Amino acid sequence: MRKPINGFSKLSKLDKIKWITATYFKDADAATQAIKQYWNTDKKLQQLHDEFIENTITNYYLPFGVAPNFLINGKLYTIPMAIEESSVVAAASNAAKFWLDRGGFKTEVISTTKIGQVHFMYHGDYEKLQKFFTSVKPKLIEDTQQITRSMEKRGGGILDIELKNKTKDLKDYYQLHATFETLDAMGANFINSCLEQFAKTFKSEALHCVHFSEAESHIQIVMSILSNYVPNCLVRAEVSCPVEDLNEDTSMSSKDFAQKFVQAIKIAEIEPYRAVTHNKGIMNGIDAVVLATGNDFRAVEAGVHAYAARHGKYSSLSHAEIKNGVFKFWMEIPLALGTVGGLTNLHPLVKVALEMLGQPTAKELMQIVAAAGLAQNFAALRSLTTTGIQEGHMKMHLMNILNQLNATVKEKEKMVAYFKNNTVTHSSVEAALSNLRLLANN
Ligand code: MEV
Repeated sequence: MRKPINGFSKLSKLDKIKWITATYFKDADAATQAIKQYWNTDKKLQQLHDEFIENTITNYYLPFGVAPNFLINGKLYTIPMAIEESSVVAAASNAAKFWLDRGGFKTEVISTTKIGQVHFMYHGDYEKLQKFFTSVKPKLIEDTQQITRSMEKRGGGILDIELKNKTKDLKDYYQLHATFETLDAMGANFINSCLEQFAKTFKSEALHCVHFSEAESHIQIVMSILSNYVPNCLVRAEVSCPVEDLNEDTSMSSKDFAQKFVQAIKIAEIEPYRAVTHNKGIMNGIDAVVLATGNDFRAVEAGVHAYAARHGKYSSLSHAEIKNGVFKFWMEIPLALGTVGGLTNLHPLVKVALEMLGQPTAKELMQIVAAAGLAQNFAALRSLTTTGIQEGHMKMHLMNILNQLNATVKEKEKMVAYFKNNTVTHSSVEAALSNLRLLANN
């Protein structure tokens, strides 16, 4: 059995690589070479990336693509997307172009508040706890002044703190449930710092509360942390047009397409197996922009999926209808995003992404991201209900297959032309390429 290693984080980067390659790889030199080839030659830039996390040994590239022609509330955007899935950027660009000619995306921010909680145990009389909370609430806010001053100057801060009794679900369990406005910051550090201060003040004030018994005065703080469930940080995106304008597909009438599209949505609304994949398609667009703009896609994912299950059953995030001859397609999703703080002023490509978007506020970014998600969902459903997903997907995947088969630039050109009118599968590409090579050798 392998031995565990002590003090790994203290090793130099090179020594870390040495240990890893010697321990886990058949060909340590080849592995070292694969790891090192992604180091940036600009030492300062490499150091910046090294210091984002602990134990960095190299960089992990993702393609950074752009989807142009997004008309959102009358303004044209080119949207940056960081993603590895071959068809996503193409699909987004396609949907953006489709809706560009039909009025574009209409978006609005519905709400922007975020939640944080101090989870604690209290063994005693609830009424006494309520009285204590009311008396200590101003001090809870006062004690965070150092943390909140600059956020308040800009118009944000702590909006409210409530005491929540959760003892029906868990014996002796209560919460300080706080709401925050964090403006252009995602706000995780701000919220968590406020919560930790609330916890400190709450615990120490309880020790001196004359109305509490000895047991009651010892409040046990379990943890203080923001919630990534943000149903009140909500954005809406919508597209609509007369049904007869949905006329791009020659194989199907606009009316049939609109009806089939709405049916596909209804299925995702009632069938969780489909809803998960449907929403995954939305997240293809959302995550790609969230990543490119340096935001926390795990937080967004967790919050969005919880929202999709808010009625007790996992369901579609998007909806569609046909009313009075008009096709309407929309979604509302929770998005806690930042355009200041975090990676936004650190990662050079995040800076590029934000400048490309015109240095958006967090509210603007919420709308851009929502439009990208809706576009992605439209593109997926359009393919699924017409040609099927594989045609477009495999066309985009063709390059990956050709790269796996070590095709040259010339071979790629020929193969792309050939597969314009032929079905792409791994074996059909393999066969066509070996045919081409055979012809070239004769
Ligand atoms: C693939 O990444 C996403 C889709 O499966 C989404 C969908 O089915 O709606 C195509």
